[in-house]
Amino acid sequence: MAFTVAIDGPAGAGKSVVARKTAMALGFTYIDTGAMYRTIALQALERGVSPDDSETVSCIAIESQIVLSPLDANGDQRVCVQGRDVTQEIRAPQVSQMTSRISAIPQVRSVMVELQRSISRESLRGVVLEGRDIGTVVFPNAEVKIFLTASAEERAKRRYLELQKRGVEISLEAVLSEQAERDERDSQRAASPLKPAEDSRYLLTDGLTIVQVVEQIIALCVEKGYRVEGGGLE
Ligand code: DC
Repeated sequence: MAFTVAIDGPAGAGKSVVARKTAMALGFTYIDTGAMYRTIALQALERGVSPDDSETVSCIAIESQIVLSPLDANGDQRVCVQGRDVTQEIRAPQVSQMTSRISAIPQVRSVMVELQRSISRESLRGVVLEGRDIGTVVFPNAEVKIFLTASAEERAKRRYLELQKRGVEISLEAVLSEQAERDERDSQRAASPLKPAEDSRYLLTDGLTIVQVVEQIIALCVEKGYRVEGGGLE
């Protein structure tokens, strides 16, 4: 089994950029598990399927051919489902809300977890997975487990700036209240709720730069026995 880095935490904690940069610095495969759940939500939305119709949503999950591309030189990953590039669409706010609902369906979760494990098995060197249940459910024996978080205001501010950059029109207040709603749902659901694994390293990122956070994670990898060869952070 390849060296596994599990990065869990709530929306807007900076998981994505931190996980990508960590994967690039170590030459590891990057798996954005949130993007996988998002592809299911997007298809459900497009077909007019209710998130309460767990049977149909589960069928969508079973039939989905999800492909995550390797990171390119900019640290971007393309997300495809049924051969279609949905990288942009899956980030729309209505997809985020839908994802938070369909990801509470146990069968959807088990299909996604199986896929995450099988992609990881193919990785020779190592893998960085980001999500909500990586250290608790997907890879409870991961060598490195991080619970990355930031204050609610800081997280909403980051999400707001990111959405603005992508041209999505939404107010900071709306981002904050949608985030609170999602946090509540993600941490209260019965199936794999968001919670730190007992043996995870808790990292509060308020006031820290991305490089500082990635350096801490790499230091932890070294502490856990990974030998970093050359390279470094940019
Ligand atoms: O990380 P993200 O914002 O792309 O996640 C989108 C939603 O998917 C979020 O509401 C939580 C859910 N999710 C999950 O339940 N389990 C994961 N491993 C990853 C994401």
